[in-house]
Amino acid sequence: MMTDGMVEPRDHPTNQGTGDDDTRDQVRFLTCGSVDDGKSTLPGRLLYETGTVYDDQVDAARAESKAYGTQGEAVDLALLVDGLQAEREQGITIDVAYRYFSTPRRRFIAADTPGHEHYTRNMATGASNSEVAVILIDARKGVLTQTRRHSYIVSLFGLRHVILAVNKMDLVGYDAETFAAIETEYRDFARTIGLNSVHCVPVSALTGANVFAPSTEMDWYRGPTLMHLLETIEVAEDATTRPFRFPVQWVNRPHQDFRGFAGTIVSGTVSLAESLIAVPSGRQSRVRRILGPSGDLETARAGQAVSLVLEDEIDVSRGDILAPVDAPVSVTDQFAAHMIWMDDKPMLPERTYGIRFATQSAVAQVTDLTHRVDVNTLEKEAAKTLAMNEVGYCKIAVDRDFAFDSFKDNPGTGAFILIDRMSHATVGAGVIDFSLRRADNLSWHDMKIDKAVRAADNGQKPTMLWFTGLSGAGKSTIADRLEQKLHERGRRTYLLDGDNVRLGLNKDLGFTDQDRVENIRRVAEVAKLMLDAGLITLVSFISPFRAERDMARALVEDDEFFEIFVDTPLEVCEARDPKGLYKKARAGTLKNFTGIDSDYEEPENPEIRLEGGAQSVEAMVDRIIDHLERAGRI
Ligand code: ADX
Repeated sequence: MMTDGMVEPRDHPTNQGTGDDDTRDQVRFLTCGSVDDGKSTLPGRLLYETGTVYDDQVDAARAESKAYGTQGEAVDLALLVDGLQAEREQGITIDVAYRYFSTPRRRFIAADTPGHEHYTRNMATGASNSEVAVILIDARKGVLTQTRRHSYIVSLFGLRHVILAVNKMDLVGYDAETFAAIETEYRDFARTIGLNSVHCVPVSALTGANVFAPSTEMDWYRGPTLMHLLETIEVAEDATTRPFRFPVQWVNRPHQDFRGFAGTIVSGTVSLAESLIAVPSGRQSRVRRILGPSGDLETARAGQAVSLVLEDEIDVSRGDILAPVDAPVSVTDQFAAHMIWMDDKPMLPERTYGIRFATQSAVAQVTDLTHRVDVNTLEKEAAKTLAMNEVGYCKIAVDRDFAFDSFKDNPGTGAFILIDRMSHATVGAGVIDFSLRRADNLSWHDMKIDKAVRAADNGQKPTMLWFTGLSGAGKSTIADRLEQKLHERGRRTYLLDGDNVRLGLNKDLGFTDQDRVENIRRVAEVAKLMLDAGLITLVSFISPFRAERDMARALVEDDEFFEIFVDTPLEVCEARDPKGLYKKARAGTLKNFTGIDSDYEEPENPEIRLEGGAQSVEAMVDRIIDHLERAGRI
């Protein structure tokens, strides 16, 4: 009944494999790719070959194939899936379709995410529920932006196993070299984003080659078929080997004598008599009973829904996480996270959003967008907001303490979503990197040998001389000459210079606004340490923003800080152009150049203003020395 290349269904869908007594293990996987890559055809084939679709669906697909299909006389398997999808799309809230099928070895839940513009939301949802990602690409097109984006999201959400299905091999003449080139390129990229378990299979979802049966056309490929991979990839590990985590979903109290905490075990195992701590409340007790669907248990493991009864009547409420006393979850109200934005309206840092973790909810604010990630190049870009489908790294403050794990330690307790408080729509999804309340556990230690002692040893007053001005204004030249003169007078000094520090300590930073802020924050902290060491410290950085210069000033005593504005007009700096950078900036080959396409905020009240274009270096240095002498610093 089928034309060439089509395989008969193996059996009818009598067993969808979801029965309780089924001992086959279960694998959840996500398929992603664009429609053109065969994103519907592949799941269609999986359903078809596992006999999961009914005859009437195949008949309907066959009829439609003639009318709309793209495969001539053959049944267009994509129509099987698209038909199911049409039904689903009548419901407005479901973004991910789950399809169930099974083979004698395993049961599968395939999450299929529509390829339209809301796909990151769907992908994030699918990814956070899956163990394996099947990423489809078209052999004719190779690795595309979208492939990279999907892979990035997959890795962000902690999926460890990727199967790269290089589809439409029939359209490239089953060419081994085409496949090899794609495989190499993809593996290189995957490595850079931390995807280590990658399997590449050349397939044709259309003909079925290497999907279930090894392809006769591609005898050069010796690896497993797609189905064999899905059936054998080892996914069971993680959840049970991680520490026990039990977010309390509700407190079950049918009568006075019974109080159980109900929920699903996110990770680890629990046994009778084990000591647990409820976080954030901090109360402890031991496990008296573990109740499963069919009665008392001695132990329970990740994935099981149970009620726990504790020995003591401790105060545990919905949202608390029960964890072993010796491996508790952390508590914070502020953290750093990667987040994907999913709403048409961009993310606004000043806005409050609802936030939901495991079973906890609260109100949150994005206090800082550290950077946006270009998912193609993996470069970090300065950004003030995130538009739909963009990924950023941000700091989030929550209005109360909550229990969490870092996502890399435990995906089940390390992820969150942001919710629009008016519409209740999910607008963002993220993974927690670390708590930002580390300062809570730190305290300043006063040392016996302090700044005063060192200043006295050096016989000088530690002072911070902060030079600011455009590139080419003469900051470094003046600072260099000043340092020589101070040295001649027996002063102990250190000169922190922009270019030099950027070649070492700050070599990870570029010239975006964000990076400049970090550049100055670090150098201000270093300069503060130098003052602490008793030195007269010269700092020569463009330091274009007032806020950061003020921040540097605030780090030390009022009389220790001198802002020296080397006020050389842009025209003069540009005419000098000692490093040829203005030329490049004007030509557009150097971006974000101060004074050209990046701001310079002039100091309003510098201690010293030098007219860099008009005076000689020697005269300017003398003015500084004079000023410092009169201020009693040298
Ligand atoms: S700052 O803005 O972050 O304070 P910093 O003083 O460290 O800048 O570094 C400035 C030096 O970096 C300049 O003197 C110049 O040599 C070099 N440079 C390279 N690219 C840029 C750029 N886009 N803008 C300014 N300076 C740049």
